[in-house]
Amino acid sequence: MTKRRILVTSALPYANGSIHLGHLVEYIQTDIWVRFQKMRGHEIYYVCADDTHGTPIMLRAEKEGITPEALIARVHDEHFEDFTGFHIHFDSYYSTHSDETRHYSEDIYHKLKAAGLVQVRGIEQLYDPQKHMFLPDRFVKGECPKCAARDQYGDSCEVCGAAYAPTDLKNPYSAISGAIPIKKSSEHYFFSLSDQRCVDFLRRWTRAGHLQPEAANKMHEWLGDAGENKLSDWDISRDAPYFGFEIPDAPGKYFYVWLDAPIGYMGSFKHLCTREDLDFDAYWHKDTDTELYHFIGKDILYFHALFWPAMLENSGYRTPTRIFAHGFLTVNGEKMSKSRGTFITAASYLKQGLNPEWLRYYYAAKLNGTMEDIDLNLDDFIVRVNSDLVGKFINIASRCAGFIAKRFDGKLVDADSYISMQQLIDTRFTNWRPGTIETAYEERDYSQAVRQMMKFADEANEFIHEMAPWEIAKDASRNAELQRICSLGIQLFYLLSRYLKPILPETIRQVETFLNCRPLTWPRLADSEPVSQLLLPPGHTINAYQHLMTRMESKQIGALVEANRESLTADQAGSTKTTAATKQTTIAPITETVSIDDFSKIDLRVAKIMNAEHVEGADKLLKLTLDIGSEQRTVFAGIKSAYNPDQLIGRMTVMVANLAPRKMKFGLSEGMVLAAGSGGSELFILSPDSGALPGMRIK
Ligand code: 2FM
Ligand code: ZN
Repeated sequence: MTKRRILVTSALPYANGSIHLGHLVEYIQTDIWVRFQKMRGHEIYYVCADDTHGTPIMLRAEKEGITPEALIARVHDEHFEDFTGFHIHFDSYYSTHSDETRHYSEDIYHKLKAAGLVQVRGIEQLYDPQKHMFLPDRFVKGECPKCAARDQYGDSCEVCGAAYAPTDLKNPYSAISGAIPIKKSSEHYFFSLSDQRCVDFLRRWTRAGHLQPEAANKMHEWLGDAGENKLSDWDISRDAPYFGFEIPDAPGKYFYVWLDAPIGYMGSFKHLCTREDLDFDAYWHKDTDTELYHFIGKDILYFHALFWPAMLENSGYRTPTRIFAHGFLTVNGEKMSKSRGTFITAASYLKQGLNPEWLRYYYAAKLNGTMEDIDLNLDDFIVRVNSDLVGKFINIASRCAGFIAKRFDGKLVDADSYISMQQLIDTRFTNWRPGTIETAYEERDYSQAVRQMMKFADEANEFIHEMAPWEIAKDASRNAELQRICSLGIQLFYLLSRYLKPILPETIRQVETFLNCRPLTWPRLADSEPVSQLLLPPGHTINAYQHLMTRMESKQIGALVEANRESLTADQAGSTKTTAATKQTTIAPITETVSIDDFSKIDLRVAKIMNAEHVEGADKLLKLTLDIGSEQRTVFAGIKSAYNPDQLIGRMTVMVANLAPRKMKFGLSEGMVLAAGSGGSELFILSPDSGALPGMRIK
């Protein structure tokens, strides 16, 4: 096998926010791929860094009363801890605020300038006269020019979805000081992306197999047809005050964050080169044959598939081998939401004591190497982890290991029955497909790898079930048979462990101790090749079995969601955004006491929202179809101001099932759903903990 030299990156997270489950899709996806390639024996490095520059970071530090340097140092520690907690192993996790990144930013800038690809132009922008700074789009607010909604950002309206320039806003104000901004012009530096050299290069490059087909199509849309030039030059400078690198020959002007962020890949790798005495040029020189892969989210494709290769090409560096873009994460089929508690931080997941490998496995089971979004369905998460990992995989070991330890001093069968065992594996287990699994990993189609592994685990469990070692164990004269069956079970478990190792590094480390074997590596094996060379040797002794993984409880997920719902209230209390908690300054007094008998007259039921739709002519109502186990009910609920129908479909909630039906203008309402809040957008319908089923009575 030829040893490949590979450099891999994940997108650099901003240093002003926490890592959440959405970020983790990418880092877990990348980490699995890197571990797989490391197991295969390739020389591969995985680098990343915090993306530390920009106005939001400068302002946040100011608000906290600390320097930006202190803020980014603190966040760096937090991010690193989160990643380590999820077993994401970087060879270098660095910072863009570093000498190395500054060096390459300046170097690339000088080379682009020497090539005639940097232009200076005056532009007019909104300026905060009180703060003495130009306002980035997100820091200007005002009324939407289209629908007149108030308090909208300078780039787009959250109410009607319109996109516009900040100068289009009506009655604009600075989100920093509240002052009315003025228009002011200043000189900005531009990278000439529309230059014919860039356009010609990108036309070739984006079609040369570096991008996924759907990404290449998108680039074609952005580039236009041959002869067209749809690209705009790219503004790469910002005026002081700014936290970043000052442009060497332009005092008071700073490199815009997107100019130093991807260059942070080089900075982080350079840092690793110094630490481990590696040859930087072997990876970044334009004639290198090393491979360079960037894992990114589809939202930053434009930067990675157009600006970045054009910058590298025109400054004499190599360009990426491939860009692997993934989709977004939804939770329970919807955008992650702070009010629903599904905007879950990595730190809270770990703090609640959930096993990080559960999430690694679930993401792996969903990722297929395309740009499709993936959904974390919290109920399915529990079922999948418990049934696949605990019920199928771990179960193989737990059903066989005890007998081997107690009856045979941990010893597996020796040479006499070894050959027949190998033959049995080769003939009976038709789902043993190592080549298929390997190809699936290489192509980042982990869902396919997982499916194949679980089919094999099913076969292993069927075999053990059929042989029923627990029955054989009752008859002392069948000891040899017992040892043969349990040894085979352990060998099957051993085979599977090797292939699950990129996804479950920590569990498999414990498996290696339990099976008393060397760290598992990746063998090259086609589907049709005999399995023999991969087994533990005849007479091998294993250690006592220690429980390897616990089942996930639905109450753990309930607590996680609750913790994230609460943390929002605490986090946002000091922010400028008004939350339900901060808005409701008066809490209504508790009403008069009722007896338990009175209370129990109310029949509260868990209900599943099967359908939700708008009601023609009704301003406030949504029509809900609720499943309460024994029957379906129609309820008109006054929650239109807070929910879109498609946010509700499939959700569980709580309804009053014995409320007298009410005839309304739009039809008969057969109950009521419960919600908290003051009204308008501040309405929150109740949800039971996960695991509750439609029709369950609430007492
Ligand atoms: O979108 C983001 O979160 C950016 N901080 C990503 C930067 S990726 C790369 F270019 F560094
Ligand atoms: Zn609008």
